[in-house]
Amino acid sequence: MGWSSWNSFSNTVDSQVIVDQAKAMVSTGMAKAGYQYVNIDEGWWLGERDADGHFVIDAKAWPALAAGDHAGDMANIVRFIHGLGLKAGIYTDAGKDGCSMYPDLGPPFQHTGSEGHYEQDFLQFARWGFDYVKVDWCGGDKEKLDPAVQYAEIARAIAKAEAATGRRLYFSLCEWGNNSPWTWAPNVGGAPAAIWRTSGDIVAPIVPHREHSGRLASFPGVLSNFDQGIHPEAQHTGFYNDPDMMVVGMPGLTDAQNRVHMSLWAISAAPLLVGADLTTLSDATRATLTHIEVLAVDQDPLGLQGVKVASSGSGLEVWSKALAPPGERAVLLLNRSGDAASITARWADLGLDESSSATVRDLWAGKDLGSFKTSYSVTVGSNDAVLVVVRGREGKLTTYSASAGGGMREGEELSFAHVASRVPMARVRIAYTNPGKTPRYAALRVNGSIATRVAFPPTGSGNAAGAIWIEALLDREGANNTLVFSAMGDSGPGIESISVE
Ligand code: GLA
Repeated sequence: MGWSSWNSFSNTVDSQVIVDQAKAMVSTGMAKAGYQYVNIDEGWWLGERDADGHFVIDAKAWPALAAGDHAGDMANIVRFIHGLGLKAGIYTDAGKDGCSMYPDLGPPFQHTGSEGHYEQDFLQFARWGFDYVKVDWCGGDKEKLDPAVQYAEIARAIAKAEAATGRRLYFSLCEWGNNSPWTWAPNVGGAPAAIWRTSGDIVAPIVPHREHSGRLASFPGVLSNFDQGIHPEAQHTGFYNDPDMMVVGMPGLTDAQNRVHMSLWAISAAPLLVGADLTTLSDATRATLTHIEVLAVDQDPLGLQGVKVASSGSGLEVWSKALAPPGERAVLLLNRSGDAASITARWADLGLDESSSATVRDLWAGKDLGSFKTSYSVTVGSNDAVLVVVRGREGKLTTYSASAGGGMREGEELSFAHVASRVPMARVRIAYTNPGKTPRYAALRVNGSIATRVAFPPTGSGNAAGAIWIEALLDREGANNTLVFSAMGDSGPGIESISVE
């Protein structure tokens, strides 16, 4: 959760912008609600390096902010951000050039990328004190580089910088979903991407003095980025599809549309990076961005993405996101049609026990609606949505034990055959051990289809198993699904069992 400079300031970002936004993150109550990152996007540096290849920073744009600071040192702004109890993000490109080479924002600038300087640049970011780095793909795209190769090299450079400085750099990968990053981003190099973009930009950024024409946020744009971001099989705690920085509160959206936008990002457990100017938020926008119960849906510890569990074909949809407490689901009733209509969420579709009643709470209304048998129906306005939490009884999970426990060595496979499921996109609980200090990885092939990569965080040195939840596309009719895990890297996790919805 955080803020990024791009949507509202494009390449005019400078120290004053960041100081004002960071202060506003605190004074608006956003920091208290959980927003942490203040991310400096493109425009902070315009491509100049010194003879040793170090960034040359504009001392006027990034002046001293406190006694002892040197003008032109990005550590100044990082200290300022950290001083407010917040975290700082920075931006570069995987190619030689960055997106600044294109003239759509003003004069073009060449060589704003990190290619040829990966180790030097990421070490510099860590030394400045940054906590987060977004790595774009404009230059890589122009040079027709292979993103999986470049980003793996970048991940190794990040891991090296982390080891040298003891500072963690949260890695945000931005190649717009062009090369299906959900199938490889969670396993690039030594510091895998934590979030990866799944689509193009949600909005053309606001360029001061070239006012908004053609640069307005739009509701269809929000829906389109949401739809392109749905890859539930690749997402679980720590690894997220990123449908882009939000446009909540920006010109072009109504308050009601802002709430739907926030609901869509929350149901998909998307990163919540606000793009609006925090110094001019309306009360309604602030309330939308800081709604504690909606934020809790987004930030639920399982990190699972919502799945469309029912759809009328005419734009009436039910999306369900499993939350950590057993039997709890966040449910979005979304009406994409031109008319108000009744939408029904059935307990069976949510993977809940349909013979038990469940309670329903409307999150935006802040209202408990009571207890319902088998389903809940509500009238939803055109292009509107209702977000509820349903608390019922968890449906049954069937457990399949691995015949061989212990760790898996590189390339080793572990197969679960004749697996049944009740729903097409089934939740799967994987019990495993990883006594190492870093995540281990396994590729997962479901019914022979392309592998997705699953990360298994450390479970500590004891023998106690940990568990992660993933979602897998299974055949609901038969009991004949096959899930094959193969270890990636030197050693894989010790998978003990899977339990399937
Ligand atoms: C690309 C990214 C955006 C932003 C701009 C900066 O378009 O997708 O999020 O970082 O570059 O130029």
